[in-house]
Amino acid sequence: MKNQNVKNQSTKSKNSVQKFMQRDQVFDFLTPKAAPKLDLSHNVILYLEDISVSFDGFKAINDLNLYIEAGELRCIIGPNGAGKSTMMDIITGKTRPDAGMAWFGQRIDLLELSEAEIAEVGIGRKFQKPTVFEMLSVEQNLELAMAQNKSVWTLLRTKITAEQADHIDEVLQSIGLIELRNDLAGKLSHGQKQWLEIGMLLMQKPQLLLVDEPVAGMTHQEMDRTAELLTSLAGKHSVVVVEHDMDFVRSIAKKVTVLHQGSVLSEGTMDHVQNDQRVIEVYLGE
Ligand SMILES: Nc1ncnc2c1ncn2[C@@H]1O[C@H](COP(=O)(O)OP(=O)(O)OP(=O)(O)O)[C@@H](O)[C@H]1O
Ligand SMILES: [Mg+2]
Repeated sequence: MKNQNVKNQSTKSKNSVQKFMQRDQVFDFLTPKAAPKLDLSHNVILYLEDISVSFDGFKAINDLNLYIEAGELRCIIGPNGAGKSTMMDIITGKTRPDAGMAWFGQRIDLLELSEAEIAEVGIGRKFQKPTVFEMLSVEQNLELAMAQNKSVWTLLRTKITAEQADHIDEVLQSIGLIELRNDLAGKLSHGQKQWLEIGMLLMQKPQLLLVDEPVAGMTHQEMDRTAELLTSLAGKHSVVVVEHDMDFVRSIAKKVTVLHQGSVLSEGTMDHVQNDQRVIEVYLGE
């Protein structure tokens, strides 16, 4: 009887090990819940309403309201510590607000979704530091980004489809790296790595792209190219760019939001916010 128990137990644990080793199977809790489809019927892709978040009693975001239109290219500026990156953390589910609402289109409540689910429903984020795989080629980086939700094992066994190959070509073209597709990513310049990372985001076909300080450390030429790239993405995608470089912002901005102490201080055209006395006092006049 005892032996039988031991045998049962060992079979059971063997089964669970086998299950665990089945790398192409995803655990239930990792499988994103089927979220409702993105509804852009009011032409607004992102609603942040009355959002607040505190860290150790310090209000990093304070009653923030922000609306992004479908296809818009929005620039967010503001002094250091204004809450710009924290706002992106909230949109992507990295930080949970203490109060407020965050909706993606009319029907997707971002506060109900995990970080992985938020990426899955179509929000891509680029952090300041490029994180490309240096030992892989430009093209392989894009392939890997496309397969982000599969295991590497699945990726190695799967051939890319003609449609996927077309998408890779299209992205290589738009990030200006088509001629360097077979080069190692480690050999790219800082600016080119930034573009590759934007390309990796594009492989996921996001509807909303969040880009934090894309031109830091870039040459002027690279900045101009980045301005072209982000401008070309708008329309097809909605793009939110946080940037300190005012010349760059001026070159791409249609509508600018100025954040200060976790709230919107001013919003409008670059001319409008630049002539806003409150903005001059806290930021541009520095
Ligand atoms: N996880 C955290 N824990 C504690 N404090 C935080 C956290 N994240 C942000 N903060 C604080 O919240 C404030 C807003 O920071 P945030 O990084 O959002 O500013 P920012 O506008 O992106 O600034 P910068 O222009 O310097 O990047 C800062 O005072 C920061 O120290
Ligand atoms: Mg920041």
